Amino acid sequence: MNVNAGTTAHAGGGSAVGLDQTELTPQYRADLRSHASREYQKFVCLNPVNDWSLLTWEEVGKPYEVKTVAQDRKAWEQEHGSAMDAHTAWTYFNRSFHEWFMKDVPAEIDRSKQNFFQGLKAFRMEEIREGLGEVVRLHLWNYVHRIQDGIWDPRGKRALFEGLDAAKPKILFLGAAEGYEAMQLAAMYPGAEVVLVDYDEYCRSTRFAEFPESYPFLGENPRTGGPQVYYKPDFNIEYVVSDIRRLPFGKEFDLVLSVGLLEHFPDEMKPEVVDWHRRFLKPGGYAILTTPRNQLRSRLFYRIMADVMNHTYRELMTVRQMGLYIYENGFDICRHGYIKVHNGVVAKVR
Ligand SMILES: C[S@@+](CC[C@H](N)C(=O)[O-])C[C@H]1O[C@@H](n2cnc3c(N)ncnc32)[C@H](O)[C@@H]1O
Repeated sequence: MNVNAGTTAHAGGGSAVGLDQTELTPQYRADLRSHASREYQKFVCLNPVNDWSLLTWEEVGKPYEVKTVAQDRKAWEQEHGSAMDAHTAWTYFNRSFHEWFMKDVPAEIDRSKQNFFQGLKAFRMEEIREGLGEVVRLHLWNYVHRIQDGIWDPRGKRALFEGLDAAKPKILFLGAAEGYEAMQLAAMYPGAEVVLVDYDEYCRSTRFAEFPESYPFLGENPRTGGPQVYYKPDFNIEYVVSDIRRLPFGKEFDLVLSVGLLEHFPDEMKPEVVDWHRRFLKPGGYAILTTPRNQLRSRLFYRIMADVMNHTYRELMTVRQMGLYIYENGFDICRHGYIKVHNGVVAKVR
Protein backbone atom coordinates (compact mmCIF):
# COMPACT_ATOMS: atom_id res chain seq x y z
CA MET A 1 0.00 0.00 0.00
CA ASN A 2 1.38 3.40 -0.87
CA VAL A 3 0.90 5.50 2.25
CA ASN A 4 2.50 8.69 1.00
CA ALA A 5 3.87 9.69 -2.33
CA GLY A 6 5.92 12.71 -3.35
CA THR A 7 9.45 13.84 -2.74
CA THR A 8 9.26 17.61 -2.87
CA ALA A 9 10.36 19.63 0.12
CA HIS A 10 7.62 20.35 2.61
CA ALA A 11 6.10 23.76 2.16
CA GLY A 12 5.17 24.40 5.78
CA GLY A 13 3.10 23.21 8.72
CA GLY A 14 6.01 21.46 10.41
CA SER A 15 7.90 22.29 13.59
CA ALA A 16 8.99 25.94 13.88
CA VAL A 17 12.58 24.98 14.64
CA GLY A 18 15.07 26.56 12.23
CA LEU A 19 18.24 25.25 10.62
CA ASP A 20 21.07 24.80 13.14
CA GLN A 21 18.58 24.97 16.01
CA THR A 22 17.09 22.51 18.46
CA GLU A 23 13.76 22.68 20.27
CA LEU A 24 12.07 20.60 22.99
CA THR A 25 8.43 19.68 22.40
CA PRO A 26 6.40 17.83 25.09
CA GLN A 27 7.04 14.51 23.27
CA TYR A 28 10.47 14.75 21.65
CA ARG A 29 13.42 16.94 20.72
CA ALA A 30 13.56 18.44 17.22
CA ASP A 31 17.20 18.84 16.22
CA LEU A 32 18.37 20.51 13.02
CA ARG A 33 21.87 21.25 14.24
CA SER A 34 24.48 20.29 11.68
CA HIS A 35 28.04 19.81 12.75
CA ALA A 36 31.38 21.26 11.75
CA SER A 37 33.93 18.53 11.00
CA ARG A 38 35.82 19.32 14.24
CA GLU A 39 32.63 18.46 16.19
CA TYR A 40 32.03 15.23 14.27
CA GLN A 41 33.62 12.98 16.89
CA LYS A 42 31.09 14.20 19.48
CA PHE A 43 28.29 12.35 17.71
CA VAL A 44 29.96 9.27 16.38
CA CYS A 45 33.07 7.26 17.21
CA LEU A 46 34.08 5.73 13.91
CA ASN A 47 36.19 2.75 12.86
CA PRO A 48 37.94 1.56 16.03
CA VAL A 49 38.80 -1.83 14.36
CA ASN A 50 41.55 -1.81 11.71
CA ASP A 51 41.40 -5.38 10.42
CA TRP A 52 38.28 -7.51 10.94
CA SER A 53 40.01 -10.65 9.71
CA LEU A 54 42.27 -10.58 12.79
CA LEU A 55 39.44 -10.35 15.34
CA THR A 56 38.38 -13.52 17.23
CA TRP A 57 35.48 -14.36 19.55
CA GLU A 58 38.00 -15.21 22.30
CA GLU A 59 39.19 -11.64 22.08
CA VAL A 60 35.84 -9.84 21.87
CA GLY A 61 33.71 -12.12 24.11
CA LYS A 62 29.97 -12.67 23.68
CA PRO A 63 27.12 -10.13 24.12
CA TYR A 64 25.37 -9.44 27.43
CA GLU A 65 21.86 -10.93 27.61
CA VAL A 66 19.14 -8.80 29.24
CA LYS A 67 17.36 -11.19 31.59
CA THR A 68 14.71 -9.02 33.29
CA VAL A 69 11.30 -9.71 31.78
CA ALA A 70 8.19 -7.48 31.43
CA GLN A 71 5.28 -8.26 33.79
CA ASP A 72 2.92 -8.56 30.80
CA ARG A 73 5.01 -11.35 29.36
CA LYS A 74 5.17 -13.20 32.70
CA ALA A 75 1.37 -12.92 33.09
CA TRP A 76 0.79 -14.18 29.51
CA GLU A 77 3.10 -17.15 30.05
CA GLN A 78 1.38 -18.05 33.31
CA GLU A 79 -2.04 -17.87 31.68
CA HIS A 80 -0.99 -19.91 28.62
CA GLY A 81 1.38 -22.31 30.37
CA SER A 82 3.96 -21.85 27.61
CA ALA A 83 6.72 -19.44 26.54
CA MET A 84 5.50 -16.38 24.59
CA ASP A 85 6.34 -16.72 20.87
CA ALA A 86 8.41 -14.01 19.17
CA HIS A 87 5.57 -12.55 17.07
CA THR A 88 3.24 -12.12 20.08
CA ALA A 89 6.14 -10.68 22.09
CA TRP A 90 6.67 -8.02 19.41
CA THR A 91 2.99 -7.06 19.42
CA TYR A 92 3.22 -6.46 23.18
CA PHE A 93 6.49 -4.55 22.82
CA ASN A 94 5.24 -2.27 20.04
CA ARG A 95 2.05 -1.28 21.90
CA SER A 96 3.95 -0.61 25.06
CA PHE A 97 6.83 1.33 23.45
CA HIS A 98 4.51 3.44 21.26
CA GLU A 99 2.57 4.67 24.31
CA TRP A 100 5.76 6.20 25.66
CA PHE A 101 6.54 8.07 22.43
CA MET A 102 3.05 9.59 22.54
CA LYS A 103 3.26 10.90 26.09
CA ASP A 104 3.19 14.61 26.90
CA VAL A 105 6.14 14.03 29.21
CA PRO A 106 6.07 17.18 31.39
CA ALA A 107 2.30 16.77 31.99
CA GLU A 108 2.75 13.06 32.80
CA ILE A 109 5.54 13.84 35.26
CA ASP A 110 3.24 16.33 37.08
CA ARG A 111 0.40 13.79 37.15
CA SER A 112 2.62 10.96 38.41
CA LYS A 113 4.00 13.15 41.22
CA GLN A 114 0.46 14.02 42.34
CA ASN A 115 -0.52 10.32 42.36
CA PHE A 116 2.57 9.47 44.36
CA PHE A 117 1.90 12.14 47.02
CA GLN A 118 -1.76 11.14 47.28
CA GLY A 119 -0.70 7.55 47.98
CA LEU A 120 1.82 8.83 50.52
CA LYS A 121 -0.81 10.91 52.35
CA ALA A 122 -3.16 7.93 52.55
CA PHE A 123 -0.37 5.49 53.59
CA ARG A 124 -1.34 3.12 50.77
CA MET A 125 1.86 1.09 50.31
CA GLU A 126 0.98 -0.47 46.96
CA GLU A 127 0.10 2.95 45.49
CA ILE A 128 3.28 4.46 46.92
CA ARG A 129 5.45 1.72 45.37
CA GLU A 130 3.74 1.89 41.98
CA GLY A 131 3.69 5.71 42.02
CA LEU A 132 7.40 5.89 42.76
CA GLY A 133 8.19 3.43 39.94
CA GLU A 134 6.18 5.56 37.50
CA VAL A 135 7.92 8.78 38.60
CA VAL A 136 11.33 7.14 38.10
CA ARG A 137 10.43 5.68 34.67
CA LEU A 138 9.03 9.00 33.46
CA HIS A 139 12.12 10.93 34.59
CA LEU A 140 14.36 8.35 32.89
CA TRP A 141 12.32 8.53 29.65
CA ASN A 142 12.42 12.33 29.80
CA TYR A 143 16.19 12.27 30.11
CA VAL A 144 16.98 9.51 27.61
CA HIS A 145 14.46 10.33 24.86
CA ARG A 146 13.60 14.01 25.27
CA ILE A 147 16.64 15.69 26.78
CA GLN A 148 19.48 13.51 25.44
CA ASP A 149 17.57 12.37 22.32
CA GLY A 150 19.37 9.04 22.71
CA ILE A 151 16.76 6.88 20.95
CA TRP A 152 16.32 8.80 17.71
CA ASP A 153 19.74 10.53 17.98
CA PRO A 154 19.46 12.36 14.63
CA ARG A 155 22.94 13.90 14.80
CA GLY A 156 24.58 10.54 15.49
CA LYS A 157 22.50 8.80 12.82
CA ARG A 158 23.28 11.50 10.24
CA ALA A 159 27.00 11.14 11.01
CA LEU A 160 26.71 7.35 10.59
CA PHE A 161 24.68 7.53 7.35
CA GLU A 162 26.75 10.28 5.72
CA GLY A 163 28.73 9.96 2.47
CA LEU A 164 27.22 6.80 0.94
CA ASP A 165 27.46 6.36 -2.81
CA ALA A 166 23.68 6.30 -3.28
CA ALA A 167 21.63 8.53 -5.60
CA LYS A 168 17.81 8.27 -5.39
CA PRO A 169 18.22 4.95 -3.55
CA LYS A 170 15.67 2.21 -3.05
CA ILE A 171 15.68 1.63 0.71
CA LEU A 172 14.36 -1.48 2.48
CA PHE A 173 13.89 -1.23 6.27
CA LEU A 174 13.60 -4.66 7.94
CA GLY A 175 11.63 -4.62 11.24
CA ALA A 176 10.80 -0.98 10.58
CA ALA A 177 8.43 -0.21 13.51
CA GLU A 178 7.74 3.56 13.03
CA GLY A 179 10.36 3.86 10.25
CA TYR A 180 12.42 6.70 11.74
CA GLU A 181 15.86 5.83 10.34
CA ALA A 182 14.59 5.21 6.80
CA MET A 183 13.04 8.70 6.85
CA GLN A 184 16.36 10.18 8.02
CA LEU A 185 18.14 8.36 5.17
CA ALA A 186 15.51 9.50 2.66
CA ALA A 187 16.09 13.12 3.73
CA MET A 188 19.86 12.73 3.23
CA TYR A 189 19.49 10.91 -0.11
CA PRO A 190 16.64 12.79 -1.86
CA GLY A 191 14.42 11.00 -4.32
CA ALA A 192 14.57 7.78 -2.26
CA GLU A 193 11.92 5.10 -2.60
CA VAL A 194 11.35 3.60 0.85
CA VAL A 195 9.84 0.21 1.70
CA LEU A 196 9.14 -0.34 5.41
CA VAL A 197 8.58 -3.95 6.52
CA ASP A 198 7.23 -5.17 9.83
CA TYR A 199 5.08 -8.22 10.62
CA ASP A 200 3.23 -6.41 13.40
CA GLU A 201 0.28 -4.65 11.69
CA TYR A 202 0.15 -2.18 14.60
CA CYS A 203 3.47 -0.75 13.37
CA ARG A 204 1.86 0.31 10.07
CA SER A 205 -1.55 1.32 11.45
CA THR A 206 -0.32 3.11 14.56
CA ARG A 207 3.45 3.46 15.14
CA PHE A 208 4.14 4.75 11.61
CA ALA A 209 0.70 6.38 11.10
CA GLU A 210 1.03 8.38 14.34
CA PHE A 211 4.66 9.35 13.85
CA PRO A 212 4.45 13.17 14.14
CA GLU A 213 4.14 14.89 10.77
CA SER A 214 5.74 17.97 12.34
CA TYR A 215 9.01 16.16 13.14
CA PRO A 216 11.78 17.76 11.03
CA PHE A 217 14.44 15.63 9.30
CA LEU A 218 17.58 17.46 8.19
CA GLY A 219 18.65 16.40 4.72
CA GLU A 220 19.93 17.63 1.41
CA ASN A 221 18.41 19.84 -1.25
CA PRO A 222 18.88 17.85 -4.49
CA ARG A 223 19.23 20.99 -6.62
CA THR A 224 21.71 22.98 -4.53
CA GLY A 225 23.35 20.28 -2.36
CA GLY A 226 22.61 22.61 0.60
CA PRO A 227 20.54 21.67 3.67
CA GLN A 228 16.82 21.07 3.40
CA VAL A 229 14.23 20.10 6.00
CA TYR A 230 11.83 17.25 5.23
CA TYR A 231 8.75 15.91 7.04
CA LYS A 232 7.04 12.53 6.91
CA PRO A 233 4.56 13.52 4.16
CA ASP A 234 7.46 14.51 1.89
CA PHE A 235 8.77 10.96 1.59
CA ASN A 236 7.82 8.24 -0.88
CA ILE A 237 7.00 5.38 1.51
CA GLU A 238 5.33 2.00 1.08
CA TYR A 239 4.56 0.04 4.27
CA VAL A 240 4.49 -3.75 3.86
CA VAL A 241 3.09 -5.86 6.71
CA SER A 242 4.90 -9.17 6.29
CA ASP A 243 7.33 -11.58 7.87
CA ILE A 244 10.78 -10.73 6.50
CA ARG A 245 11.16 -14.44 5.62
CA ARG A 246 8.22 -14.20 3.22
CA LEU A 247 9.08 -11.00 1.30
CA PRO A 248 8.61 -11.27 -2.47
CA PHE A 249 11.51 -8.94 -3.38
CA GLY A 250 14.64 -9.79 -5.35
CA LYS A 251 18.07 -8.14 -5.19
CA GLU A 252 16.63 -4.71 -5.93
CA PHE A 253 17.56 -2.40 -3.04
CA ASP A 254 20.51 0.01 -2.77
CA LEU A 255 20.25 0.19 1.02
CA VAL A 256 18.93 -2.51 3.35
CA LEU A 257 18.54 -1.26 6.91
CA SER A 258 17.71 -2.70 10.32
CA VAL A 259 17.70 -0.93 13.68
CA GLY A 260 17.58 -3.06 16.79
CA LEU A 261 16.94 -6.41 15.07
CA LEU A 262 20.11 -8.54 15.16
CA GLU A 263 20.37 -8.48 18.98
CA HIS A 264 16.97 -10.14 19.33
CA PHE A 265 18.23 -13.44 17.95
CA PRO A 266 20.52 -15.92 19.72
CA ASP A 267 23.78 -16.92 18.04
CA GLU A 268 22.40 -19.93 16.16
CA MET A 269 20.01 -17.60 14.27
CA LYS A 270 22.41 -14.71 13.59
CA PRO A 271 23.68 -16.06 10.22
CA GLU A 272 20.08 -16.14 8.95
CA VAL A 273 19.39 -12.60 10.18
CA VAL A 274 22.56 -11.29 8.53
CA ASP A 275 21.46 -13.10 5.36
CA TRP A 276 18.12 -11.21 5.42
CA HIS A 277 20.20 -8.08 4.69
CA ARG A 278 22.11 -9.70 1.80
CA ARG A 279 19.09 -11.28 0.13
CA PHE A 280 17.55 -8.02 -1.14
CA LEU A 281 20.70 -6.00 -1.94
CA LYS A 282 21.68 -4.95 -5.44
CA PRO A 283 25.34 -5.68 -6.27
CA GLY A 284 27.36 -2.92 -4.61
CA GLY A 285 24.49 -1.96 -2.26
CA TYR A 286 24.92 -1.21 1.43
CA ALA A 287 23.60 -3.08 4.46
CA ILE A 288 23.19 -0.72 7.42
CA LEU A 289 22.59 -2.18 10.87
CA THR A 290 22.45 -0.72 14.35
CA THR A 291 22.14 -2.50 17.73
CA PRO A 292 22.08 -1.19 21.33
CA ARG A 293 25.45 -0.74 23.02
CA ASN A 294 26.59 -2.78 25.99
CA GLN A 295 27.23 0.04 28.45
CA LEU A 296 26.26 0.43 32.11
CA ARG A 297 23.65 3.12 31.42
CA SER A 298 21.94 0.90 28.82
CA ARG A 299 21.87 -2.06 31.22
CA LEU A 300 20.24 0.23 33.81
CA PHE A 301 17.77 1.54 31.23
CA TYR A 302 16.55 -1.97 30.32
CA ARG A 303 16.32 -2.91 34.00
CA ILE A 304 14.27 0.15 35.03
CA MET A 305 12.15 0.08 31.86
CA ALA A 306 11.72 -3.72 31.91
CA ASP A 307 7.91 -3.59 31.92
CA VAL A 308 7.95 -1.25 28.91
CA MET A 309 10.69 -2.90 26.84
CA ASN A 310 11.53 -6.48 27.79
CA HIS A 311 9.04 -8.71 26.00
CA THR A 312 11.57 -10.29 23.66
CA TYR A 313 14.99 -11.96 23.78
CA ARG A 314 17.55 -9.13 23.84
CA GLU A 315 21.32 -8.75 23.91
CA LEU A 316 23.50 -5.68 24.38
CA MET A 317 26.78 -5.81 22.45
CA THR A 318 29.92 -3.91 21.55
CA VAL A 319 30.58 -2.69 18.04
CA ARG A 320 33.39 -5.26 17.75
CA GLN A 321 30.99 -8.11 18.55
CA MET A 322 28.37 -6.71 16.18
CA GLY A 323 30.87 -6.19 13.35
CA LEU A 324 32.26 -9.69 13.80
CA TYR A 325 28.80 -11.27 13.37
CA ILE A 326 28.39 -9.32 10.13
CA TYR A 327 31.95 -9.89 8.87
CA GLU A 328 32.00 -13.63 9.52
CA ASN A 329 28.68 -13.98 7.71
CA GLY A 330 30.01 -12.69 4.41
CA PHE A 331 30.13 -8.88 4.52
CA ASP A 332 33.02 -6.45 4.32
CA ILE A 333 32.69 -3.67 6.86
CA CYS A 334 32.84 -0.24 5.16
CA ARG A 335 32.26 1.82 8.29
CA HIS A 336 31.54 1.01 11.91
CA GLY A 337 31.23 2.94 15.12
CA TYR A 338 28.95 3.93 17.94
CA ILE A 339 26.59 6.81 18.62
CA LYS A 340 24.72 7.66 21.85
CA VAL A 341 23.05 4.34 22.60
CA HIS A 342 23.60 2.21 19.50
CA ASN A 343 26.45 0.66 17.52
CA GLY A 344 26.32 1.11 13.77
CA VAL A 345 27.79 -0.84 10.86
CA VAL A 346 27.69 -0.05 7.14
CA ALA A 347 28.71 -3.10 5.11
CA LYS A 348 28.88 -4.49 1.56
CA VAL A 349 28.59 -8.11 0.45
CA ARG A 350 32.08 -9.63 0.16
C1 LIG B 1 13.17 -3.60 18.29
S1 LIG B 1 12.06 -3.27 16.98
C2 LIG B 1 13.02 -2.13 16.11
C3 LIG B 1 13.36 -0.95 16.91
C4 LIG B 1 12.53 0.21 16.51
N1 LIG B 1 13.40 1.28 16.06
C5 LIG B 1 11.60 0.64 17.60
O1 LIG B 1 11.58 1.83 17.90
O2 LIG B 1 10.89 -0.18 18.16
C6 LIG B 1 12.09 -4.63 15.90
C7 LIG B 1 10.89 -4.74 14.97
O3 LIG B 1 11.11 -5.86 14.13
C8 LIG B 1 9.88 -6.51 13.89
N2 LIG B 1 10.20 -7.90 13.51
C9 LIG B 1 10.87 -8.83 14.26
N3 LIG B 1 10.97 -10.00 13.57
C10 LIG B 1 10.36 -9.80 12.37
C11 LIG B 1 10.14 -10.63 11.22
N4 LIG B 1 10.56 -11.90 11.18
N5 LIG B 1 9.48 -10.10 10.17
C12 LIG B 1 9.05 -8.82 10.20
N6 LIG B 1 9.22 -7.98 11.25
C13 LIG B 1 9.89 -8.47 12.33
C14 LIG B 1 9.12 -6.36 15.20
O4 LIG B 1 7.71 -6.45 15.01
C15 LIG B 1 9.57 -4.98 15.68
O5 LIG B 1 8.65 -3.97 15.35
